Amino acid sequence: MGERNAVGVIGIGWVGLVTAACFAELGNEVVALDVDEAKVAALRRGEVPIHEPGLAELVERNRDRLRYVVAMDEVLERAALLFCCVDTPPTYSGDADLSRVRAVVEQLRDDGRRALVMKSTVPAGTGATIRRELPGLAYVSCPEFLKEGTAVADFMHPDRVVVGADPGDEWAADAVEELYRPLGGEAIRTDIGSAEMIKLASNAFLATKISFINEIANVCEEVGADVVEVARGMGLDQRIGPSFLRAGIGWGGSCFPKDTIALKQLAGNSGYHFQLLTAVIEVNELQKRRVIGKLTKHLGSLVGKRIALLGLAFKPDTDDMREASSLVLVARLQGEGAQVAAYDPVAEDPARELLPTVEFCDSAPSALAGADAAILVTEWPEFRDLDWGEIAKTMATPLVVDGRNFLDPATVRAAGLAYEGIGRNGVID
Ligand code: UGA
Repeated sequence: MGERNAVGVIGIGWVGLVTAACFAELGNEVVALDVDEAKVAALRRGEVPIHEPGLAELVERNRDRLRYVVAMDEVLERAALLFCCVDTPPTYSGDADLSRVRAVVEQLRDDGRRALVMKSTVPAGTGATIRRELPGLAYVSCPEFLKEGTAVADFMHPDRVVVGADPGDEWAADAVEELYRPLGGEAIRTDIGSAEMIKLASNAFLATKISFINEIANVCEEVGADVVEVARGMGLDQRIGPSFLRAGIGWGGSCFPKDTIALKQLAGNSGYHFQLLTAVIEVNELQKRRVIGKLTKHLGSLVGKRIALLGLAFKPDTDDMREASSLVLVARLQGEGAQVAAYDPVAEDPARELLPTVEFCDSAPSALAGADAAILVTEWPEFRDLDWGEIAKTMATPLVVDGRNFLDPATVRAAGLAYEGIGRNGVID
């Protein structure tokens, strides 16, 4: 590996590992650092610590180009572009916790030969502060737009690549753009603060779209319309677009919850009350709880009832349980006195730690046996193939609450079960 020709990646979490593996796939040498020695040791043995489609294959195929280290000196020796991919979880105040970013910055050299490329999601203004502290370190804001479950494909086919830098750091901005050039996607060159805001505003807007369609779904339930049809009709308007209009039991994950609150707090700290975003967050909190009303409509009191959850992860194709709607749902169900059984094809291990009082089952049919209701929480494809006719015979009450509008209501009803979706009162039997 040549002197400073490698790409440096700091923080080997979801973003860091996908970034490292994809840059390696493009033919770059990559040196990736994490403070977690056990994780680095596992990666060196060829083990991939997260479930992300296509990632393990990429890591294996590019083994020779990926070097995992625990010492910053090893990164600084080999790389001039240092991609910062550490996490920025929320603090108690809702602001982003920048302690990991700070820990990285403190180890960097101000020698005019390196650039910090910020991929971590940080409040607008962070780059300017770091730039002032270390004037000899170039700084580029290059936010990431990967979705868990499709992160490798998203990296390889970006809609856009945002590169924010001060005029004096053109060399670093050019180098980042050059790295991404083989992937296509429009490059947006801008200032640091605008790049930081593009990231925060994009996530806030996507979360707004979902909360909006969820409220439309709730109105559909009142007026007897089908939100799936409504979203289809809306989405064909090119000004609206079809994506992120799937109504359900709310958004979760490692990004939307923390990033919406962080933007709300960022605005508040600057003296502006971000009213719309405040409502978007509240709608999402309430949406997770609406399932309880659907259950009691059919079952009355939930005390002693067995409720089976299909899926627990915050979305399919991931084992990530961070801010998953299932966590709120389980707490509410148990608060109502229900017994909760659950099955998730990949998230069982992380879920067990967070939900010690849930009965974990090794298949959907075993979770559903004897259940008074099924709640589809995560739209894993295998749930579409369930034999609902057979399942209905084993349930105590044949009732499905489809929290993701994922199943075909006619099929489920034809199999002899009651079906409740989200905003689907207009669905004809
Ligand atoms: C999100 C953004 O989509 C990415 O662009 C961004 O890079 C990432 O956050 C981040 O900031 O790191 P992610 O959280 O991985 O990605 O997953 P999404 O596919 O956006 O889903 C988020 C939540 O919204 C999930 O709980 C999902 O079930 C829910 N959702 C999504 C809906 O309820 N309805 C929809 O129509 C779409």
